[in-house]
Amino acid sequence: MTTEQKQLVKATVPVLREHGVVLTSHFYKRMFLHNPELKHVFNMGNQKNQKQQTALAMAVLAYAEHIEDPSVLLPVVDSIGHKHTSLDIRPEQYAIVGRHLIASIQEVLGEAATPELVEAWTIAYRQLAALMSGHEQILYDQQTQKIGGWAGWRPFIVRKKVEESSEITSFYLYPSDGGTVADFMPGQYISLRLFLPELNLWQPRQYSLSCAPNGRYYRISVKREAGTTHPDGMISNRLHDFVQEGDVVDLSAPAGSFVLQQDWSVPKVFISGGVGQTPLMAMLEGIAGTNEREAMGRITWIHGCRSEAVHAFKDRLQEIGGSGIPLVTHIFYDEAAEEREGLHKGWVELNPIKSDVLLKEAHYYLCGPAPFIAKHYTFLVEHGVASQCIHFEEFGPASLHLN
Ligand SMILES: Cc1cc2nc3c(=O)[nH]c(=O)nc-3n(C[C@H](O)[C@H](O)[C@H](O)COP(=O)(O)OP(=O)(O)OC[C@H]3O[C@@H](n4cnc5c(N)ncnc54)[C@H](O)[C@@H]3O)c2cc1C
Ligand code: HEM
Repeated sequence: MTTEQKQLVKATVPVLREHGVVLTSHFYKRMFLHNPELKHVFNMGNQKNQKQQTALAMAVLAYAEHIEDPSVLLPVVDSIGHKHTSLDIRPEQYAIVGRHLIASIQEVLGEAATPELVEAWTIAYRQLAALMSGHEQILYDQQTQKIGGWAGWRPFIVRKKVEESSEITSFYLYPSDGGTVADFMPGQYISLRLFLPELNLWQPRQYSLSCAPNGRYYRISVKREAGTTHPDGMISNRLHDFVQEGDVVDLSAPAGSFVLQQDWSVPKVFISGGVGQTPLMAMLEGIAGTNEREAMGRITWIHGCRSEAVHAFKDRLQEIGGSGIPLVTHIFYDEAAEEREGLHKGWVELNPIKSDVLLKEAHYYLCGPAPFIAKHYTFLVEHGVASQCIHFEEFGPASLHLN
């Protein structure tokens, strides 16, 4: 790429910043019109709420800004790569996306899209696509080289369905081929896809693994997304109401870069809201299963949800607490009949419990709705916690840019 072409791409940053979502919305409309087979690949719920359009726009913008040195984007390329591999995105699909993205730039910018600008963006896109699909190939290779590993979709049988609370149900998933399942790092997720007859589409969704690795099965714990002002969640409700023990679902291999650091002596603080506790539960289960108790650092478990009725895993949490690991728990219910040690009324607030939160050299793991993560991230940073010690996961396309 020439210096002039890099300048041209960088010069589009203000336009992209202003019209980025318009451009990517146009792009998705165009792509689904010409390549409707990709509707099986994308989360059509996220298309409605615009989250995916924004995530793609932000990624393209970040690339244009760093065109001189795209290596600074590697952490982002890695986390998108994990999401892409969990959806079985293949290199040849980059050409389709590229074709529609470049055509959309032309259509949205109109006369401002000079042939030179279009040429510069075409080269820039090819470079980005090569960077991303190259990294994704490494991730696929890592997945397939594991014992019990695979790439793409693999059928799993739902052997057990367990109600964890009035709105969260766990699914125990065993490979239907009778083989072993790949190990994973606690905190990672799988994609699960179901065929939705009402849309005539396959639809994938990500679910964090909520158990520790065990070689035999995966467990996911799914919250029913019931709409009052908007339609019910498509996959979560289908899983709750129609998918029964003995049924088969397709899973992709575990992926994701939100993982537990394995140094047991480091104190760990887990902060979750609602169903956001699932990846943290896998981390806690992983800790509970080790023999490294002697030198184990303190563990603080902070969880908030609406009420005891929707509080999943509370018995298991007590059981782990009684098993001799140095665990302190703080549970917050919006609606609580009483307050006692470790049980608080209202939303999660870290200030009143800061002696259990601000632990020297601790690592923090946050998962919950985006405003929940942002609020507690800000508290931690304002109280001197280094951003590299704070790890978080959003249950949807990345919208936060905190560290
Ligand atoms: C890494 C990761 C891990 C995750 N882990 C878990 C987990 O462990 N457990 C879990 O339960 N979930 C998890 N999720 C979320 C999960 O992937 C799904 O997003 C969730 O189950 C909702 O999917 P759905 O198909 O039921 O809802 P969708 O049909 O996708 O709808 C999503 C939301 O949008 C609303 N909606 C639908 N249509 C409209 C409309 N027209 N206008 C406005 N709103 C609308 C729905 O009511 C719903 O609340 C995770 C997500 C990610 C990215
Ligand atoms: C240079 C090209 C691309 C860029 C910059 C890009 C960027 C992104 C970003 C930022 C996300 C959100 C990740 C997250 O927050 O978790 C994402 C998700 C996704 N991407 Fe890409 N992507 C590219 C190419 C592709 C291609 C070729 C495909 C396949 C057709 C694809 C399919 C998807 C899907 C299905 C998702 C998940 C969508 C969802 O859950 O709503 N992407 N991509």
